[in-house]
Formats: sequence, structure tokens, C-alpha cells
Amino acid sequence: MNEIKRELLYKGKAKDVYKTDNDDEVLIKFRDDITALDGGKKDTLSKKGAYNALISSKLFSVLEDNGVDTQFLNLVNVDEMLTKSLDMIPLEVICRNIAAGSLLKKYPFEKNQELVPPIIQFDYKNDEFHDPMLNDSIIIALGIATQDDLDNIRTITLKINEVLSNFLKERGLLLVDFKLEFGFDKDSNIVLGDEISPDTTRLWDADTLDNFDKDIYRKGEDGVVDAYKKVVNIVLTSEEKDKWNVDNI
Ligand code: TMP
Ligand code: ASP
Repeated sequence: MNEIKRELLYKGKAKDVYKTDNDDEVLIKFRDDITALDGGKKDTLSKKGAYNALISSKLFSVLEDNGVDTQFLNLVNVDEMLTKSLDMIPLEVICRNIAAGSLLKKYPFEKNQELVPPIIQFDYKNDEFHDPMLNDSIIIALGIATQDDLDNIRTITLKINEVLSNFLKERGLLLVDFKLEFGFDKDSNIVLGDEISPDTTRLWDADTLDNFDKDIYRKGEDGVVDAYKKVVNIVLTSEEKDKWNVDNI
């Protein structure tokens, strides 16, 4: 076990962020906690943290290999990622390829309708206001980001969508939608942060359209952790699975 962990900086719904000896780096620990419905539904599911850390670090590495700047440095333990420290922008950047989830509740899209071009939506990461959807004018008026930042975030998000959709499609999964969070690094570049896991994406089997993501838990069904384990087995190479002893987590 690697022991880099120091003082707790931030406790989220499913992850903890720790200070390290290096001011430019923070350690993100993925907990086994899972929540839905704005924190109204909560559980602790053994192994979920490790599976999400493995999936996130793999997808961040795939993005880095394709020229997308991410916070990820390396996985130091099976549920702990060492990352570049970022000044996070309080936006949830949601990208949608297929109409699902809240989009169907709020707008007259057809279920499973393909969205070409993809929809990019910005929600305000703010529990007090229940993460309301924003537009560019509101974001700029609130001083959250500039128009240039938003243009940049849209371009990076579309690139991430292309890279990850292709990577997952080759492995039989549809990237239906996902949520990203960005921050500024010490040189003021916009960098992808946080996580990309089945907690923050909708992943469907390309043939059967079965879910492999948090919707299983949101719907109150069993088997969410088994589904995350399947995603680990789909995205990791056999060498990576051996390295992290995935079958014995
Ligand atoms: P939605 O359909 O509920 O708006 O969710 C769209 C995508 O964003 C879905 O893949 C789940 C993800 N998401 C989060 O990661 N965190 C959130 O708080 C919400 C609302 C959605
Ligand atoms: N992340 C939110 C919550 O924990 C909403 C969700 O993902 O369903 O409550």
C-alpha cells in the first residue's frame, strides 16, 4: 500500500480529496458510497470505489493518449488516484448522444432518440440551488467562466466524446451520455478533472441496450456493482487486470 495521504481537503458524495506533500498534486480517494436523487438515496456498496477508480484512470489514460489534458497522474492504490491539483470550475458539463434520463423528463424527445450533433449542457454544481441548468449568459454573469472558457470547454468535450465513444464502441458499449468537470491548472489551462465512471456516465450494451451504470441503482434494482465490474473487465487489458488483481478486489 502506498501512503501519500495527508490532510483531508474536501469530502464529496463519493470521493475524498487529500492534500499531499506536493502542493501541485492531490490524492483522490474513491469511496464505496453511492447516492442518487440529489443525495436523497444513499448506500455503501463494497468494491464500488475501486471499480470506479480503475475505470476512471483507464479512461483518463485513453484520453491523454489522444491529446486530451487531464488531471490524472497515476493510480497509487486500487481506489486512489494521484492527480494534478486544479482550481475547479463549479460546472457539470453534460454531453448527450442519445436521449435518456432527465432530458426525457424535461423535453419532448423520444426515448433513445439519437442526438446529432450531441447536446452539451451546463449545470451549476451547487447543492443549495439543486444544480440548476445554466446558459452562457448566466455563467458569465455569475463570474463562473468567460465565453472563451466555455468555447474551449465545448471543443474539449466534443473531442472527449469522440475518443471515448469510439473506444467504448469497439468494446461493445454505447456512450449514451456523461458528465465532466473541468478546472484550471497552475498555468491557467483548462484541464479535465474529477472522474469518468459508471457513476457519471450512461453506458449501454450496444446490442441489448442493457445498462451498465448508476441507472441500475437509481431505479432501485440490484446488481449495480456487478455491472461496474463488467465495465472494469471490458475496458482494462488483461495485463492491467492482473496488475490490480481485479478478480480479488
Ligand atoms: P441526467 O440525465 O440525470 O441529467 O444525467 C446526465 C448524465 O450526467 C448521466 O450520465 C449522469 C450524469 N450525472 C452526474 O454524473 N451527476 C449528476 O449529478 C447528474 C444529475 C448527472
Ligand atoms: N449525483 C447526484 C446525487 O448523488 C444525482 C445522480 O447522480 O443521480 O444525488
